[in-house]
Amino acid sequence: MMSDKQLQEKHDLNVIIVDDKEEGGRKAFELVEEAVQNGAQVLGLATGSSPVPLYNEMKNSETDYSHLISINLDEYVGLPEDHPQSYHTFMYEHLFQYKPFKKTFIPNGLGDEEEEIKRYNRVIEEYPIDLQILGIGTNAHIGFNEPGTPFLQETHMEKLTDATIEANKRYFESEEDVPKYAFSMGIKSIVSAKKIILMAYGEQKAEAISKMINGPITEEVPASILQTHDDVTIIVDKAAASKL
Ligand code: GLP
Repeated sequence: MMSDKQLQEKHDLNVIIVDDKEEGGRKAFELVEEAVQNGAQVLGLATGSSPVPLYNEMKNSETDYSHLISINLDEYVGLPEDHPQSYHTFMYEHLFQYKPFKKTFIPNGLGDEEEEIKRYNRVIEEYPIDLQILGIGTNAHIGFNEPGTPFLQETHMEKLTDATIEANKRYFESEEDVPKYAFSMGIKSIVSAKKIILMAYGEQKAEAISKMINGPITEEVPASILQTHDDVTIIVDKAAASKL
């Protein structure tokens, strides 16, 4: 559990600058392999375009993941599992259909708010995350923890910001179709993972990456909490690193 002391303690984040997202995927894959070989049992997984090259490496590898547990960060509220834009569908299409895990957990977008939050917190408690994969929003959100979310919050229902709805509308027919709420693992649970890999590519992430690494640790920049974690690797391309 995060204490006030831990929140004040700062660590250097390990930054790897790559030429493109394919190289980023290969670097991330090496770290995932190493963790799995060293006995990692529980992988925290993320959606979005940034982890896709990593999932491609995993799906094309010889590695068997069927003894592992996966826990995803988030899911849109209101979307059934089989909706084309649900994170259930995303994970199945990009990874699970090729590499089945022993058990996979993703919040149920149709679940009752209170019950679903309790269920997901119990899952995270039962299976402590060894390695957490992350992307980052243009406003520095991680999972769907938007700016202002308390660092100590656990799983909850988050109201998505206009910036996030704008960024994610490319996946939907129109902006009105983008869900306005999501269930998200809380920041407290994300930073309780033993090891974290965050990937970000493109100029539109440069500001968030700069604030996350060099700015103050503040709930207004959710990813800045990673400065308090002692094992974080940030994989970025030159464009995302351009404001460092
Ligand atoms: C969504 C997800 C985040 C992800 C972010 C960035 O909002 N909830 O987990 O990090 O998008 O996505 P992308 O990698 O496509 O830029």
